[in-house]
Order: sequence, then structure tokens, then C-alpha cells
Amino acid sequence: MKTFTQHLLFLLVFLLSLDASAQTYARNGMVVSSNKMASKVGVEILKKGGNAIDASVATAFALAVTHPTAGNIGGGGFIVFMDSSGMTTTIDFREKAPLKATADMFLDDGNLPKGINLYGRESTVNHIGLKSVGVPGTVAGLYMAHQKYGKLPWPILVQPAIELAENGFELPWSLSRTAKFFSENSNIQFLKDYFRKDNGELTEFREIWKQPELASTLTEIRDHGHDGFYKGKVAEEIAQFMKENGGIITKEDLEKYRAIERAPIKGTYEDYEIFSMPPPSSGGVVLVELMNLMELADLDSIEFNSTEYVHLLAEVMRRAYADRAEHLGDPDFNLDTPIDRLISKEFAKKRFDNIDMNIASVSDSTRFGQMYDGSSTTHFSVIDKDGNAVSLTYTLEHGYGSGMGSSKLGFIFNNEMGDFNPIPDLTSNTGLIGTDPNLIEPEKRMLSSMTPTIVAKDGKPYLIIGTPGGRTIINTVFQTILNVLAYDMRVDKAIDAMKIHHQWLPDRILYERHLLSPDTRKALEAMNHKLVARNSLGELMGIQIDLINNVLIGASDSNSSEGAAIGY
Ligand code: DON
Repeated sequence: MKTFTQHLLFLLVFLLSLDASAQTYARNGMVVSSNKMASKVGVEILKKGGNAIDASVATAFALAVTHPTAGNIGGGGFIVFMDSSGMTTTIDFREKAPLKATADMFLDDGNLPKGINLYGRESTVNHIGLKSVGVPGTVAGLYMAHQKYGKLPWPILVQPAIELAENGFELPWSLSRTAKFFSENSNIQFLKDYFRKDNGELTEFREIWKQPELASTLTEIRDHGHDGFYKGKVAEEIAQFMKENGGIITKEDLEKYRAIERAPIKGTYEDYEIFSMPPPSSGGVVLVELMNLMELADLDSIEFNSTEYVHLLAEVMRRAYADRAEHLGDPDFNLDTPIDRLISKEFAKKRFDNIDMNIASVSDSTRFGQMYDGSSTTHFSVIDKDGNAVSLTYTLEHGYGSGMGSSKLGFIFNNEMGDFNPIPDLTSNTGLIGTDPNLIEPEKRMLSSMTPTIVAKDGKPYLIIGTPGGRTIINTVFQTILNVLAYDMRVDKAIDAMKIHHQWLPDRILYERHLLSPDTRKALEAMNHKLVARNSLGELMGIQIDLINNVLIGASDSNSSEGAAIGY
């Protein structure tokens, strides 16, 4: 008979063996996304002989069904792709402003009025209603990626999402809570009804949730590719819905939308190469500037998570985000953006030299400001058996975007117009930016912070990483990469380690509540830093490749309730 102590000891050993920061190992291929069903769809495509692009297309469509807070066909995003030969490229499928948009379209007497958003809370009007919707880019981006780099026939990649929408799936706890919240609180009928069954009742936890209208829209996309969304029945209905409900997107906007292939932003950190997203995302430029700044620090002498460490991070972030606010916007409208200078080692040296390690600098609130975004966005990472890698982040801007959609089409429109600078020339330290590069213009893409990234070693993918989190995205990706490259953490540890966020203005450090000690916080405050607690920063999905042993290590952030790394 075992004694009580022996039982306790056994239990303790068992509990310790359960690693909370779930990492997964595989040899042949892997998909890490914020939803298990979607990761599984992607891996099945890999097993059928699809490459990383094929698996990404299938995963993205599946997420549009199973992870509707951010997975989408009504939003936009970015792909960073590295193939097995080391060729690296990106696809920009960011939403763009409709032809009828103007720089002051959200203003009333020069002010930005407030209204009530889909959560029943007060918000500025550039995030509310159909005027907040940018021309969606997701279907165009996935189609272009497939046309240029995919292998399997397109219909095979859309079909799993159609089946998930048609046959339904068990509503997970997180979605069932959202369903209840919207049915009780939202002022938007489409959202109130979104999670209802045919009989009008709300779908409960673990009941089957079906989306027949979304299945029909996806069927059009399966059968007609790009045109299945931007022309024909679906486009007609989008334009009609906009017209009837005060939106400004027309059939012409949809017909003119194109995804764009762009060269990646490239940087280095010691022996590693970093490939990330160029404008209209600010992600790549700011990430490379941050890594350049950190390369100048003597990290061997700085303890991870110490006062000195947090101070240094906050100071480099402050500087890089100031540059972001000043310079970045859609590159097709800002031909003179000094990108090469911003990502150069010389520029980092200048920026680094005026950091005082004893005291916080002051963000200059008379010049620029920054907003803090809400949730949500989603990222996934994919690698196939040949070593082709995809890092994909896409979004509706806020969780469930504008919350609006046509009941005939069954998908939600983004509210990405809120990412433009809303008031020309007004920059305030409460959080508005008014600089020119990101003012609204017809057909311009709004500036993003999404940072899908691939780090390479010797020309091969070594780390595939990204996250949601609005403006915090760049900093959480940056710290995760730094944790792996400089502090030698395995990807799952790097994801779950403490993160902070400073974005120049408002001038304060966000930190993960339970991960920064009270003593460190006091010491930082004594250096004039302001600190604000957050429960968590980011929901990273990453794959690290052990290039020596040829093993894939996948990790989905423990902040994610439904995320999963699945490999084979
Ligand atoms: O493109 C951007 O930077 C934002 N629209 C992303 C929003 C976001 O990540 C919210 N998620 N947590």
C-alpha cells in the first residue's frame, strides 16, 4: 500500500511533468494557429502533399469559420513567405479606403465624435458602423498566394472551411460566452443573431453551431476564386448591403481591389537574418530598428526581467515607435519614406547613444501620439516537409470588426478604417496621431502594426512567429525573437516569458501583471517610468526549427484558449 505522502509525491511529479507552455515536436510539417480545428485542416493539407502556402490558405479559410473574432474573409492581412531555396517574399492584402473616403470623413466641426460600439461601450466613430469598413483584402491575398506559390488545386483548400461551416462544430466555451454577451448587449442585430440556431435559440456551450450562409459565400469563392468575392453574387450583395445601410463601399471598389506582392523588410541580428512585413505595415521597419538597437547593448551583463532590462526595452521601444508615428504609411502614397535609413545600423547607433541607463527619457507630447488598440487579430505559422515557411497575420481590427455583415453572406466586415490617422495635424499625448503619411485618401491602405516574421539561419527558416495585439504586436514579436536569439530560450518559453510594451505616447510601460516583481516596478518608477498592468500581452503562435537535429518545435501561447500546434 502506498502511503499518503507517496501518493502526494506521485501527484507532484505528475503535475511537474505537465508543461504548461505546451510545445509540440514534429519532423515533417506543422501548423500553429489560434484554433485546433483550423490547425488540423492545415496539417491535413500538408499530408495530402500540399505545400506551406496551400496549408496556409486552407487554415485561413478554416479560421474564418472557427475563430470568427479575427479569422476572416471580411478583413485583411499579410503573408511573409520563405521557400526552401531561401527566396523570401511578402503578400500585402491589407484593406484599403473606399473611393469615396476623405481625410476628414469621420469629423464633425473638426472633432472626432464618439458613439457606441458593438460591445455597448463608448468609442470614437472611426471604429463604428459601416463607414469604418475598409475594402476587404483577405480573399485576394490568399488567392494571389495560391496562384503564385501554391501546389494543390484551389477548391481542395476552400472545401474544409465549407464543411466546417455547413456541418457546424461544437461551440467552445470562449465563443459561447461571446454569443451570450452579444445577444444580451450588442446594439447590432447581425451580431445578436450571429450565434443563433435555425429555431432562433442561442447556441450554447458544446452545442453544434452551423453557418449555412457563410458556407454559400465560401462555395462561391471555392468555385470562382478571387472573382467569387470581388465580382458576381457576393460582390453584388456587399454593394447592396452597403448602400442600404449607410456604407460607402461600391462594386467598383471591390472590382478594383488587388493584393500586392512586395519585397520583405530585411534586417540582421548577429548571425541571423530577419524577414518581416514592409509598409503598409509598420511591423518590419520597427522590428528591425528594435533588433538593431538591442544588438548594441551588452546583454550578457543585463539580467532578463531586471530593472535594467525593462528600462532598456522601454527606451528602445519609445524611440522606434516615435519614428513609426513620424514616417510610416502606405508606401504607394508615401514615395519618399526613409525606410533604408530607419533600418540601418548607423541610424540605430545614433538612437542608442542618447539612452540614459539611469533615467527614463520623456516622450515629446507636443509632436506625436499613439493609440492603444483593442482586440483582436490572429496569427499562424506553417512549415512543410520541404522547409517552405509561412508567417501569416490577418485581422478585422477589433474583435468581430465592425460587428456588421449581411445576413445573406454570413461574414463580418472589418473596422480597419480606424487604423488611419483620423484628425489631420492633430497629435496628442492622449493617443491621436495626425501625421500626413497615414491620413485617409481614396484607395490608400491604412498603417498596420501586424508583424508576421521569419528569422533565418544560413538561408533556412529558424523561427516563424507573429501575434495579435494592435500596436503591442511589434513589441511582443520583438521580445519573443530576442528571447530566442539573445537569451537562448526555446520558442514556447520565449512566448510565455514576461513582455512589456512602450509605444512612445502615451508615455507609459504596459507590463504583464503577474510577471514583473513589485521591487522591479518600484525601481522603474524611481527612474520616472509610469507603469500600467495588463493581464497579458499577445497571443503568439510560433515554430522554431532545430536545424541540427531537423526537428520542428511548435508552440501556441498559453493566453490562447483554443490555439494548437499540430505537426506530423
Ligand atoms: O493592423 C493593425 O495593426 C491592427 N488593426 C491590428 C488590430 C489588432 O491586432 C487587435 N488585436 N488584438
